[in-house]
Order: sequence, then structure tokens, then C-alpha cells
Amino acid sequence: MCGIVGYVGSEPLISYLLSGLSKLEYRGYDSAGVAVHTGDSIKIFKAQGKLDNLKNILRDKCEAGVKTLSGDAQGAAMQGFNSFKTSEEKAKIGIGHIRWATHGIPNEINAHPHVSPESKVALVHNGIIENYKEIKEELIAKGFEFKSQTDTEVIAHLVEDCLRNTNNFGQALRCALKKLDGAYALGVIFMDDPDTLYAAKKSAPLIIGLSDKGNYIASDIPAILEYTKKVIYLDDFEIAEIKENSVKIFDIEGNKIDKKYEIVPWEPVSVNKMGYKHFMLKEIHEQPDVIRQTLFNRLICSSEPIKLDEVKLTAENLKNLDRIQIIACGTSLHAALIGKYLIEEFIGIPVEVEASSEYIYKRVISNSNSLTIGVSQSGETADTITAIKLAKEKGSHVLVVTNRPDSTMARLADSLLPINAGFEVSVAATKSYTAQVLAFYLLALKLAEVNGSLPSEKLEEYKKQLLQLPQKVEMILNNKKEIHACAIKFHNAKNFIFVARGINYPVALEGALKLKEISYINATGYPAGELKHGPIAMLDETMPVVSILTPGKVYEKVLSNSEESKAREARMIAITSVNDSKLDSIFEYIIKIPQTDELFSPILTTIPLQLLAYYIAEFLGKDVDQPRNLAKSVTVE
Ligand code: F6R
Repeated sequence: MCGIVGYVGSEPLISYLLSGLSKLEYRGYDSAGVAVHTGDSIKIFKAQGKLDNLKNILRDKCEAGVKTLSGDAQGAAMQGFNSFKTSEEKAKIGIGHIRWATHGIPNEINAHPHVSPESKVALVHNGIIENYKEIKEELIAKGFEFKSQTDTEVIAHLVEDCLRNTNNFGQALRCALKKLDGAYALGVIFMDDPDTLYAAKKSAPLIIGLSDKGNYIASDIPAILEYTKKVIYLDDFEIAEIKENSVKIFDIEGNKIDKKYEIVPWEPVSVNKMGYKHFMLKEIHEQPDVIRQTLFNRLICSSEPIKLDEVKLTAENLKNLDRIQIIACGTSLHAALIGKYLIEEFIGIPVEVEASSEYIYKRVISNSNSLTIGVSQSGETADTITAIKLAKEKGSHVLVVTNRPDSTMARLADSLLPINAGFEVSVAATKSYTAQVLAFYLLALKLAEVNGSLPSEKLEEYKKQLLQLPQKVEMILNNKKEIHACAIKFHNAKNFIFVARGINYPVALEGALKLKEISYINATGYPAGELKHGPIAMLDETMPVVSILTPGKVYEKVLSNSEESKAREARMIAITSVNDSKLDSIFEYIIKIPQTDELFSPILTTIPLQLLAYYIAEFLGKDVDQPRNLAKSVTVE
């Protein structure tokens, strides 16, 4: 979390810093700030809260802009920044930051950029410095004073301390970096080196964009895509010295490294709500196309084998597999739990699913006969990256399922399975989850084909089910009025319980997560059979219980569990494809989905829950796309 940008060149500097930061807002929105080197000083502008607050501050500074700007129109604002009529106009080098608070509350003092006491160094940071307290104490003993509560300010002071022993800026930076434990992506400028932008990286993403009109740094590609597609991926412990016409990269000892640039095969992302009120609603509606896109060229018709050439596991590898582990966080973890169910059901290999943050702090039991699957929308989640590295160290084949084939995880993978969900803006994941679940169907069926673990008629029937999914999802979206009405009826509830069994249990977890993260209503998902082991004590006439019931092995069981809840006066909501008169006496609200086999129901049962969460949050007036305290990419452990 947190995003950094930087630029050195003669194009409008503030324009780039702001437009770059706007593409990184998914990484945090607690505060924003920029530092520009005007030739005789480093000027800092910061604002608490979203990037718009910083834009307003800069707009007020912009004499020409103030006269010409009308309303909040961003395009006009950007033109205003282009004609910045103050000394900042001369600035050719600058850095910017968007914050997700880790150390210190989200206020202006803790906002980046941070400067050293004598204003010789200004820097922006993404990551966490784990030994910052020890360093801070040492620096305080040397007479340094601190203004903020952040770990980042320590780095600025440390670099200035190192500058006392050298007038080589790169060397001062390297001297400071050697003392840091933890993760950092840094953009650094020096008062006495007005032509060079410094960048450094360890365990947090950082790219350098090269162009004829200057050079850029950014935490992520969308921030530079409008300006260039030539990108150098900085690796851990590398430090870049970037000027308008040159980029030099060194290792931590100061040895020069030759690195090639890559051309990013992307077009600039047009981030547009297309008439929807929120990105989340737009992304929910994109799901039929996302399914088609993820199936494209992989499953053409039910009688043909699935094409999944990305998975580099041979039949021989597969025969020797003794364990499959899936690691992920949050919504991706819920997709992984569905994946476990599918792989165990279709090929009979035991699968363990673990939250990455748990996996990395216990003995890792992997070897060359294990397959480790990392699942991540962003491909940058710090815990999952660490988990993947540990599995690789043990010799496990690592398959990464991600929406970002350019990400750190994708580059670590032995096999890469991209999910083609398209850019997901809303912090709450919807379409990427659906594409991840679909990727698990493809993978499980492919493994079953290679392994011969399913009869060919079953395989064909299952593939038909997958091919029918887009139309079925469209049917649910066409019926959203019913879900809207349900949301209005229940939006006042203070708590929700979601229950299901079998393959839909992860859907209950996902329904609860979606609701709590965007509406701040307390919600919990349980296996329906577990209610009577404790949670049933919570039930009374104020508690909505959402039961997921699809025809199959567990239908009758979930139905009995729902009756038990009804008997405790809970307010019952069903998500179901079943026409069963028994439901009418139990459920106050029944949301229907198209007929489907239980094994192929999780995508269809999740979509009404995404919509339910969306409509409740929207009705409560919450910031649906950017819920409080969250960020889209969680790059700290
Ligand atoms: C919830 C959500 C998060 C992410 C989690 C992992 O809607 O989006 O729970 O799923 O932070 O992120 P990725 O998938 O990028 O590793």
C-alpha cells in the first residue's frame, strides 16, 4: 500500500505527479503529497485525505489556474496546474506519494514527502521499516529531531546523517539503506543535486519509465502508461540514479548493473464508470464478459480438451504430486477455498488452503513433489509474495493465478495463469474473484483430463456448465431489482450471518466480507452446520441470516439448519435456484438464481451477495469504491 511517483524532465512536473498519483489511488487514500525541486529549494505540498484535497491546495497556489478553473472539472484543473505561475514552474524534478497509514495517524504531518532536518533530503516511501525505532533512538542521541510518527522520516534523517561523511549522494543513500530492515520503494531528491532523482527498492514494487521527454518512477505501470511503455523493473537492493537523459543502476555496494528495459504490452487504461454510479457496480456488471474473456481460447466447446498451456505440469509431474497448497488473502482466499473443493472433487489429490499471512510463520512443508498455487488479483500482496518465495525455496512448483501478468508474483511464478478480468478499480474485489474461481474450474478440469480422473461424459457435461455461465450471470443481473428491494428492507440491520455448506461455504465467507468491508455492518460467514455449536446464541428477531441453498448433496441439510434459525426468530433470506414450497414458510426473502448443478453454483450464488452488499452500502451513503481504512493492493505484511 502507499504509492509513489517521481519525474525528472522538462514536461509539466506537477501534472505528471498528480496524474500518476491518481492512477495509484487504489493503493491508499489517507493523505497525498508532492515535493518539487525549484532549483533553489525543495517545496513540499501535502494534504490529509484523498488526492482531491492536494489538488485543491495546488489549485489555490496556481495564479493562472484560479482564474480559469470552473467547478471541480479535473481536466480544467490539470490545465491550471500546467500553467503554474510560481517558482514551481521552473521545477524539473519531483516526487509524489499517496498514503495508506501504517505508522502514525493519517494527518498532514505524517503525510509524505518527509524531509531531513536541514532540508537536504526529501523522500517518499512505500513499505515498512521494521527497525525504525532503534534507528530513531540512535539519531535522537545524535541530536536529530523528529516531527512525525512515521517510520519513513527516519530514512530521510539517516540519509542526511550519512551525507555528513560523504558528498556523494548515491553513496549516502546506499549507506542509509544498509541500515534498514524491512521493505521499501523509495523516491529521493537532494537539495544539492537538483538534476537527479534517486530510486531504491526492497520487497516493494518500483518501476522506472523511460521516455524522450524525461524519466519516471512509479509503484505501478498505470501511473506512467500515458507517457511511456518502456519500463525497467527495479529488483531488490538496486538503486537508480535517474536524470532527464540517463538512468544508471547500481547494487547496494555501488557496482554498476546493466539492465534492459521491457516494452509493456498495454494500452493506457481508461478508468471510466461508463454511466454507473460506482466502479463496483460497473465491475459487477462486467462479470459475464469477464467469464467469456477468461474462457476465451481455453474452453472452446465441451467436446474439446481445455487449453491451459500456461500450466507447465506434465502428466508425469502430476502423477508424482503428493500435495497441493493454495495460498492467498481476503477475497482471493475465498476463491482458493472453492478451488480446493474442485480439485479434491475432480482429481482426488488433497489440497490445503492457507492464508498467506499464516503460511509464512510456520514450518513450510513443501518439496519438489508439491504444487503451490498463489492466488492474487494484484500480484503484489506482500504476504503472498513471501509465501511464494518460501515455497520456491523448498523446491515446490509455483503456479500463480493473477489479474496482473506484469506483477511481482507473476515474475516469480514457474507457471502463470492470467485471469483476464481487466483493470479492477473498486477496492472491493468482484470481477477478479469470479475470474479466479473460473480459473480454478479450468485448472481442476484440466488436471482431471490429464490425470484421467473423470469419465469423459462427466468432463463434457462439466464443460457445458462452464460455457453456460455467462448467460446465467446475465439473468441474475437482469433481476437485480429484487436484490435492491431486499437491501432496502434489511439495510438497518446491525449484524448479518451468512451460512452455506460444501462448495458454497466460501461463498458465505465472501458474502460476509463484501458486506462488512463496504457497509461497515458486522457480518460473519459460517458453515451452516456450525451454527448450533455457538453462533446460534446470537440469533433473535433482529438478526438476518442469509442461507445459500442449491440442489445437491447439502440442500436438505442447509434447509434444516435454516429452519433451526427460523425457530430462533432470525430474519431469513435465501439465495437459491430451487422451486420448493417449503422455502416459503422459512424465508422472508427469496433471491432466485438460475437452475444449476451445485458444483457449478458458487459464481452464481456470489453475484447476488455482491449486489446485496453494494445496495446496502450505497443506501447507507458509504464510500463504496474506497471504503475506509482499506487499499486495493496490500504491499505490507
Ligand atoms: C476484498 C479484497 C481483499 C483482497 C486481498 C488480497 O474485497 O479485495 O480482501 O482480496 O487484499 O488481494 P490480492 O488478491 O490482490 O492478493
